[in-house]
Order: sequence, then structure tokens, then C-alpha cells
Amino acid sequence: MKQHYKEMPSSLQGTYAEFSRNFGFDWKEFIMGIPTPMFLVTTYKSNGQPNATMQSWATFTSADHGNGYFAVLASVTKGGHLHQTLNEKKEAVINFMSSDKYEDCMKTIQNNQFEADEISASGLTVAKASWVDAPMVEECFMNLECKYLWEKEIVPGDDHVIVCLEIVGGHVDEEFLADRFGEKSVSYNIHYPMDPNNVKEKGCDYVAGLKVTNRSYEY
Ligand SMILES: Cc1cc2nc3c(=O)[nH]c(=O)nc-3n(C[C@H](O)[C@H](O)[C@H](O)COP(=O)(O)O)c2cc1C
Repeated sequence: MKQHYKEMPSSLQGTYAEFSRNFGFDWKEFIMGIPTPMFLVTTYKSNGQPNATMQSWATFTSADHGNGYFAVLASVTKGGHLHQTLNEKKEAVINFMSSDKYEDCMKTIQNNQFEADEISASGLTVAKASWVDAPMVEECFMNLECKYLWEKEIVPGDDHVIVCLEIVGGHVDEEFLADRFGEKSVSYNIHYPMDPNNVKEKGCDYVAGLKVTNRSYEY
């Protein structure tokens, strides 16, 4: 049986779903949230130090009549280093981590000082990109080199922007090429899922992998 949600159910009052509006999240996300791929975006700060930003709320698509592959970061805060560095340098790398590197990638959030090499400080290795001026993370199984194309607010005056990056080339681990669902596979961010019929005092975000459920088209 389906339940219908247009207004925030009273069971979510006083919970994370209600007060997280202060951090920019609508209550619907916690009931109807859609998992999104998780990755680390790396850029150079104006002082030359590597910046690293965990990102989700994003998608990837071809466009330009099949002549380009693009990353659409749906919600980049205007207040962070990523937004600043993208506007300065116009180049970035999107790095996908296997689950054993998740903790190290998360450490970049603590090592977020302007003076810091956020990649090395988090126990990861800076590699040089081939086609753009941005650092890459050696330990990540796939690195997509990107050029900044444009940004737009979803609603005028918003504090986050949609950012479109063109993927100009990439570095892909052989293990991932051979098996998209194995040890090295894309992780997904599940943001604090809540059941309004069974609200618990505490909850958390999850990181999830993929499993095949159907075979689809053959070409
Ligand atoms: C899994 C995960 C996903 C995130 N996704 C986003 C996102 O899509 N947009 C955003 O603005 N911040 C996101 N964040 C928060 C930023 O990673 C965090 O604020 C970071 O410290 C900003 O770094 P920066 O100032 O170097 O850009 C995410 C954090 C995590 C842990």
C-alpha cells in the first residue's frame, strides 16, 4: 500500500528531517531520497595546494549530440573551496574510491584548511593529471579529468549551484573495467533514510554498492 506525502508528516517534527533545513535539506529527501554516486573532486587552490571535496548529489551524461561526456554536480556549496577553485582554475578531477579507501577520502573533510594539501594530509597520494591542471588521487580506481563549463542556481539567490563539467579524459583501473560490481565499483550515498511510520531517535547515512538484478538490452 502506498503512503502519500505532500506536507511533512507530524512524526518527523523535531527530528533531523525537520532541522536539517538549516543545512539546506528538504524533509522530502529523507523519505523519498534517491541514492547518488559518491566521489572526491580534486582541484588546486590559489596557493597551489591540492583541494579535495567529497561530493554526491550528481549525475553523468553524454550530450552535444554524442560528442561529449559530462558530469553534472547538482549541488555545490558556494561557500566551499571546490566552488572557489573551480571558478579560478576551471579544471578538476573526479575520483572514485573503492570501499577500503572511503575512510581516507572522508578525512579530507577534516583536513580542509586552505594551507593544507588535503590529499596527502588524508593519507592519500597526489598524482599529476594528464590533460588538465588539477591533482588526482592515485589510490582511486577511476579518475575523470574535467573542464568547468558553467554553473547555475536551481532557484535564483540559492547558496548552492549546479555545476557542469566536461569529462575530457579518464584513467580507469583494469579491475573496474573487468567487473563493474566487484571490489572496485562505484559507491552510492544514501542520505539518512527515514520511515515516517517508524521514526527512530537516531539514524545515519549509508554507503551502498550495486548488485545486478536484471539483464537488459543486448546490442
Ligand atoms: C558523502 C558526501 C557527499 C557530499 N556531497 C556534497 C555535495 O554534493 N555538495 C556539497 O556542497 N557538499 C557535499 N558534501 C560536503 C563537502 O564534502 C564538505 O563540506 C567539504 O568539507 C567541502 O570541502 P571544500 O571546502 O574543500 O570544497 C558531501 C560530503 C559527504 C561526506
